[in-house]
This record gives sequence, structure tokens and C-alpha cells, in this order.
Amino acid sequence: MKTNIKKLFAEAMKDQKAIFGDDLYDSVEVKIEQLESFDNATSLEELNNLICNCQKCELGKTRTKFVFGVGNPNADAMLIGEAPGADEDKQGEPFVGRAGKLLNDILIAIKFKREDVFIANTLKCRPPNNRDPHPLEMETCRPYLDKQIELIKPKVILCLGRIAASQIIGGKLALAKMRGEVFDLNGIKVMATYHPAALLRNPGWKKGCWEDVQKFRKLYDELTGK
Ligand code: URA
Repeated sequence: MKTNIKKLFAEAMKDQKAIFGDDLYDSVEVKIEQLESFDNATSLEELNNLICNCQKCELGKTRTKFVFGVGNPNADAMLIGEAPGADEDKQGEPFVGRAGKLLNDILIAIKFKREDVFIANTLKCRPPNNRDPHPLEMETCRPYLDKQIELIKPKVILCLGRIAASQIIGGKLALAKMRGEVFDLNGIKVMATYHPAALLRNPGWKKGCWEDVQKFRKLYDELTGK
């Protein structure tokens, strides 16, 4: 059953109105309208402005910064990670910690600059203590990622790790079965590889990642004629 968030908020806010008066009630109403209208955004900047105060799940209460994503708004290649960690939560940008440094090196190795691609996460807010995202959080945040993909129109997507891969590619396949294959998401080619944080813990997986990203670069070159 689809939750009618607007109705739930409106009901809760009626109680608040009785306590705090009209000013608070009106400003909350405006925020609800903004969240509901994000799907009409025509640019990434507009989308970010509409969703950056999101409180649709519990993570809105514990985050420091909303981590929208970063990079070229017209990128042909998009990279999707899992969720912000502590550094990303502080800085408001994805992949800026140790895993981010490794990701930058991986990008350089396949002749991308960080600014050439767009980097986003399945979740825009940090799960406390870097726990795995809960299914409801993923479901709640997914429309934001879908809207980003719709606006950027990448030709290729690289999913970083199991969580992003299962979210985007779907099904119950293990990452090992998704790596190296090319999937389709509404006409966009999708591949998956290890998450950079997993590579830091398991350096032996770097060889496999290198094979995956070379294949990803080849696919990008074929599709863009670069
Ligand atoms: N891990 C992710 O999946 N995303 C980030 O932004 C940082 C670490």
C-alpha cells in the first residue's frame, strides 16, 4: 500500500499548529509541497533544492549533511555507491574519504577525471555507524536516484558494490554473478564491480575490479564514440 506522506504530515501538523501557531504550520506546509513536487524538477540543482531537507525516513534526523551527488550534470557515465559514510556526511559530498581516494585512483586508471562522471549513492543520508541501508530506506530514497538518472541521462552506469548493484540491477543475484556482465536499465547499460571500501579490506579483489572497470571504459567508448 502506498503511504500518503502528505496526508500523514498534514495530520501531524494539525496537532503542532495547536501548540505552536500558524507560522510553523505554514512553513512546514511549504516544505511538504516542495518534497512532493521534486519529480517536476528540470535540473539537478533544482532537484537538490527540492529534496535536500528530506525527512521521509529516520536518517533525516541523524544526518549532518544531505549528500546529493557530484559531477558533470551531463555525464555519459554515472557511478552509484551505497550511502554516505562519516566523511561524506560531514562534507556533503560522496566518496571523499579513504574509499573515495581509491575511487579517484580507479577513475584515473581508466582515464576519467572525477569531474567527467556523476557520482551518487543509493541513499542520500548516512546510516548511523555505517550499517547497511534498510530496505524501506532504499525504497524511500529510490525515486530521488531515479530522478537523477532521468535528468543526467547517462549512457552507462557502474554500480559500486552489492547494495547498489542489487538496487539498480535488481533480482537476487550475488555480486559475483553481476560482475563482468552488462545489464539494461531502461536503455542504459549497467555494470557492477566491487565497492572501493571492500577493496581496501580485500586488496586481492583489486585485480577483478581492474578487469571490470576496463570493460566499463570500453563500453563507454563504444557507446559515446570517444
Ligand atoms: N561509500 C559509499 O558507498 N558512498 C560514499 O559516498 C562513501 C562511501
